[in-house]
Amino acid sequence: MGLPLAVRAAEVGHRVVGYDVDPHRIKRLTAGDPYVEDVASSRLRAVLDTGAYSATADPAALADFDIAVITVPTPLRDGVPDLTYIESCARTLGEHLRPGATVVLESTTYPGTTEELLLPILEKASGLRGGVDFLAGRAAGGAARSRGSNASAAPPPGCRPGLRI
Ligand SMILES: NC(=O)c1ccc[n+]([C@@H]2O[C@H](COP(=O)([O-])OP(=O)(O)OC[C@H]3O[C@@H](n4cnc5c(N)ncnc54)[C@H](O)[C@@H]3O)[C@@H](O)[C@H]2O)c1
Repeated sequence: MGLPLAVRAAEVGHRVVGYDVDPHRIKRLTAGDPYVEDVASSRLRAVLDTGAYSATADPAALADFDIAVITVPTPLRDGVPDLTYIESCARTLGEHLRPGATVVLESTTYPGTTEELLLPILEKASGLRGGVDFLAGRAAGGAARSRGSNASAAPPPGCRPGLRI
């Protein structure tokens, strides 16, 4: 689900980095080959051509992000979601987190994952405080909630363009 979101965000004026640990996926995306039916190759190529979107496996490209949206897998193992992908991703993001940024968890998981798992990892990796220095929220079915603020954790439709996502 990360690619449709990334392409749409790039189309409406944000600068988007699609970070993925799978180099084969990055190679396909960079060549303008979407791996999901939801995104036409013409749309992917358009945002690649303008530079609004880029795909990379280099975590250094996460520097200075305003909003990060986590869409890593959470496969069920014995009926319980495997959260190791979220943990790994959170450690990487935390190293690039800066004051004022927002992290949104889109992966399917159980209630409480944001506060009990994601937030502590982000805080430890960044040395920042959730709800004070940065926001961490979850999104389910299009609705977003954030910790420590009544503000939406996801950019509302029509939010100012130019954010680094
Ligand atoms: N919130 C929603 O409305 C909604 C909707 C659809 C899917 N989902 C959930 O989103 C999650 C992703 O689904 P999908 O179908 O896009 O999965 P997917 O397997 O197609 O894509 C996940 C990608 O994450 C990458 N990845 C794994 N570990 C990573 C890491 N540490 N850092 C960066 N990238 C990493 C994988 O290489 C893969 O390319 C699942 O939990 C799914 O249930 C949520």
